[in-house]
Amino acid sequence: MRTRWNISGLLVMLCGVNLSDMLGYKPVVIVHGLLDGPKQFIPLAGAIQKVHPGTNVSVIDLYDHLSSLKPLWRQVMGFKKMFYPIAQEAKNGVNLICFSQGGLICRGLLSILPDHNVHNFISLSAPQAGQYGDTAILKRFFPHYLKAKVFHFCYSSLGQEVSICNFWNDPHQRERFVNSSKYLALLNGEKPHSNMTEWRKNFLRINKLVLIGGPDDDVITPWESSQFGFYDSNETIVEMKKQNWFVADTFGLKTLHARGDLAQCLLSGVKHSGWHRNETVFSTCIEEWLT
Ligand SMILES: *[C@@H]1O[C@H](CO)[C@@H](O)[C@H](O)[C@H]1NC(C)=O
Ligand SMILES: *[C@@H]1O[C@H](CO)[C@@H](O)[C@H](O)[C@H]1NC(C)=O
Ligand SMILES: *[C@@H]1O[C@H](CO)[C@@H](O)[C@H](O)[C@H]1NC(C)=O
Ligand SMILES: *[C@@H]1O[C@H](CO)[C@@H](O)[C@H](O)[C@H]1NC(C)=O
Ligand SMILES: *[C@@H]1O[C@H](CO)[C@@H](O)[C@H](O)[C@H]1NC(C)=O
Repeated sequence: MRTRWNISGLLVMLCGVNLSDMLGYKPVVIVHGLLDGPKQFIPLAGAIQKVHPGTNVSVIDLYDHLSSLKPLWRQVMGFKKMFYPIAQEAKNGVNLICFSQGGLICRGLLSILPDHNVHNFISLSAPQAGQYGDTAILKRFFPHYLKAKVFHFCYSSLGQEVSICNFWNDPHQRERFVNSSKYLALLNGEKPHSNMTEWRKNFLRINKLVLIGGPDDDVITPWESSQFGFYDSNETIVEMKKQNWFVADTFGLKTLHARGDLAQCLLSGVKHSGWHRNETVFSTCIEEWLT
């Protein structure tokens, strides 16, 4: 028995009409980022319900706060269990908004689920190409390391038990990254593996990929990682279209682009903690993809 009453719940009970189905708003599933949890997404859920009344918004309450440091594959398996029941009830599919590290978790999910019904996948300032920077978060966990030394820990089997290391991408240690990363190097197809074709096919079930990011993000480094750009060995940015994962279409990015299904939304003036709270971000980059 549900005890929380809302208009759409009431309509389901009284007339068997599901308001969000009627209005055509797909349920929205939100996956949080590193060191946060559902609470931080109340403003975003509120903004969605304000423009699309009756939308069923679920923020998955799993691996919150310090637990978000667990290895990413373990988190993907956990999120999968929570995600399936919501998706199965959604006849017309769901839209997915995934913030920061959550954007990588969502890519893992979309790669391994052969039957997912995710319509639009909105990647909200997520380090899709990896992270390499001395940010406050890094300092908190590795106070004695400079970024150039983090690889010693991250590219060890112990390091790969920490989520950040799963996507730590040291541009001066390419070979070590490819050899050791149990997550990002596989997702981006930098390290070839037997599931690549299958993962690509699964990922391409999405309707649109929406990449949101901007230069004033003070955590994602380089910020272009939110757009699949990354440093070369001289720490010069190589944009998405010149990256091997795009050129070789290792996981479907080029195909999405060719299909017209890759949207990029860049905004300046937004700090990392602002993406899910800022009304301009919502109205400019998110709202139109939630139908
Ligand atoms: C929202 O989705 C959840 C998960 O599928 C479901 O249990 C709940 O009944 C839905 N709520 C409404 C009001 O449709
Ligand atoms: C990466 O792995 C290959 C093959 O196992 C090995 O030959 C090479 O030495 C490794 N490179 C580094 C930097 O660990
Ligand atoms: C490929 O998929 C299978 C089945 O899901 C899994 O057991 C295996 O670990 C995967 N391989 C890689 C390299 O992820
Ligand atoms: C990095 O800079 C050096 C010196 O300017 C240059 O020789 C090298 O080709 C550059 N590497 C890349 C990957 O651009
Ligand atoms: C919200 O986003 C706008 C547009 O990018 C930006 O100019 C503004 O500074 C942001 N506000 C806050 C509080 O982050």
